[in-house]
Amino acid sequence: MSEAATMSALVPQPAHVPDALVYDFDMYHEPAMERDAPARLLEIAREAPPVFWTPHNGGHWVVKSYPAIMKAARDWENFSSEHIPREEAEALLANLPAGTVIVQPVPILLDPPDHTRFRLPLQPVFSPKAMMKLQAHIRELAIELVEGVKQQGHCEFVSAIGERIPTQVFLEIFGLPLERQDDFRKLVEEHLSDDFGTLDNSQRKLRRMADIMHDTLVERRENPRDDLISVLWQSTVDGRPLTLEDMQNYCVLLFIAGLDTVMNGMGHGVRHLAMHPELQAQLRANPRLIVEANEELLRRYGFVAVIRRAARDFECEGAQLKRGERVSLSYPMANLDPAEFADPGRFDLGRENKVHLTFGGGPHRCVGSHLARIELQTLYEEMLARLPAFRLDPDRPVRYRCGPVTGPREIHLLWDN
Ligand code: HEM
Repeated sequence: MSEAATMSALVPQPAHVPDALVYDFDMYHEPAMERDAPARLLEIAREAPPVFWTPHNGGHWVVKSYPAIMKAARDWENFSSEHIPREEAEALLANLPAGTVIVQPVPILLDPPDHTRFRLPLQPVFSPKAMMKLQAHIRELAIELVEGVKQQGHCEFVSAIGERIPTQVFLEIFGLPLERQDDFRKLVEEHLSDDFGTLDNSQRKLRRMADIMHDTLVERRENPRDDLISVLWQSTVDGRPLTLEDMQNYCVLLFIAGLDTVMNGMGHGVRHLAMHPELQAQLRANPRLIVEANEELLRRYGFVAVIRRAARDFECEGAQLKRGERVSLSYPMANLDPAEFADPGRFDLGRENKVHLTFGGGPHRCVGSHLARIELQTLYEEMLARLPAFRLDPDRPVRYRCGPVTGPREIHLLWDN
């Protein structure tokens, strides 16, 4: 269980939260999560109430059962995504030069009907058809990186391959300079490692991302190319052309999602394969099973949890939520709900129900899921086809970055040449 010394300060339990619904979970700083996030998430899925309150990180609710999350993800009238408190935003703007606007990742921080209007332009850009066109290029990149480490008999997977593929693919389709990929990754890493923090702090980081992209955005408006920014500039919302501010709001979200998420999925999947030589052998013998394996890996190792705010006082699974309280929807824990998935900690290629929530549910379901699936599948195909059986280096255990997006920081692999 948790080791309180390094965890965040605790806030007092509010009067409306009964003892039975309090569970000790620090999503950002828990040593048990850092050692083995998948095992700790499974433990919580098994032992915590379907909706619980934790005193860490300012005190917040966590919704974790599969049915409760399915309901909450669709119930935007109670579980609002517009979770920047208006008063905080106004207080911040009052201290900034006139004309300053809040950078707001869009459409993820909007509720319908605004959400629906702002999500529409992204759908054709990330459609399965548009993403399939990228597969040949993704494969070339995967081959180059895997062949690059093959002879050495070992590699640190995350830096050598896991962060390279999604970052490079994303910067190319986005039209941002590849030479700056390390700076860009650092910015996103800082953003995701920070705990809930203040609006002021998070605005500073989002503003830096928007500033990095500013010149590219303006340049593509004047001189469109064959990239995602140029395609987005052609879009309209309610018939009006997009403004530079709209573009910045879209692009900070795509920047964070594009530069970080998929590498975590790759890390979880590759660690699992490295621990299971029999699965590697089965997939090498029958590569067509990789599609199914990819889905079951995504279920077992969900890694994105999201934040909502209670829009009013209401009841959920016996918990009384008060207006303004913060709620984490833990899609990873929902995937490990024993009432939904038999023996949920087990990777089961033959599992009948693989309808997981790794990409979320309801109106905000991930727009990038087709791209993510192609990148993951292509990586597994090329690693299994090109490397001999690989395993974890027993002297260098995997450690996890924790927070809303959880994934291995480093995975040291070994194989015999
Ligand atoms: C395996 C990789 C990925 C995972 C697990 C993942 C997960 C998620 C989840 C759980 C949500 C739902 C958020 C909510 O309920 O509020 C989401 C939304 C979103 N994702 Fe992903 N994502 C991945 C990759 C990507 C990529 C590669 C992109 C684009 C480059 C992307 C773009 C988005 C966008 C734009 C949204 C917001 C959709 C909306 O608010 O309507 N994601 N993602």
